[in-house]
Amino acid sequence: MRLAKYLAHAGVASRRAAEQIIRAGRVTVDGEVVLDPARDVDGSRPVAVDGRVVEPPRDRVVYAVHKPAGVVSTARDTHGRPTVVDLVAEPGRRLYPVGRLDADTTGLLLLTDDGELAARLTHPRYEVPKVYVAEVGGGPISERALRALREGVELEDGRTAPAKVRRLRGNVIELTLREGRKRQVRRMCAHVGHPVKRLKRVAIGPLRLGDLPEGAARRLTDAEVRSLRDVAGRRWRARG
Ligand code: URA
Repeated sequence: MRLAKYLAHAGVASRRAAEQIIRAGRVTVDGEVVLDPARDVDGSRPVAVDGRVVEPPRDRVVYAVHKPAGVVSTARDTHGRPTVVDLVAEPGRRLYPVGRLDADTTGLLLLTDDGELAARLTHPRYEVPKVYVAEVGGGPISERALRALREGVELEDGRTAPAKVRRLRGNVIELTLREGRKRQVRRMCAHVGHPVKRLKRVAIGPLRLGDLPEGAARRLTDAEVRSLRDVAGRRWRARG
């Protein structure tokens, strides 16, 4: 594994910051200063930063959680409310939510200790699609409202990008967004006269919530993690 990646996986810093730390001459492998971030290391020889030995990186985990309403998606809540991290029993690991759902939104949220994957899945640059099911008020939804949601609506923080929107039944619609602005679905729907009554996220990229019960968590399989890396990585490479 490349030295910079090794340090990033060990939780020392982001990959880019690790490269800077290496180039600054702060990293040794087996006691010898290494300035090349691409130097191959495998954990068999001690790697140290500023003279302190770094624990070799261990396998990263990703969990899918079905967030209930009332649970917050920060790692810690200043008001003492339950957080999504409390839903996963992983002693000894520090897991972070990948992005956010509003406290009153339910559905699929990922937790991981893989900072790089988390950054890729949430950064707008990677455009990972997220699918939401919204039950809305404001009377029957018109074709015009659906079209406006698809084409983009003007919000305080700018026009929304084109989205896939379809009616599932009555006043329940499915929206596929490639952006992740704060309270975006709620603001978009309110803008076209249909305030959201209930909101649930059902998919992130290739991963679906499926029949995971509310409040439950499950560790993703290696194949699922690869498919997530793939969807974020592909767009990264495509856009350079
Ligand atoms: N859009 C919202 O309005 N809320 C969420 O929690 C997620 C997307």
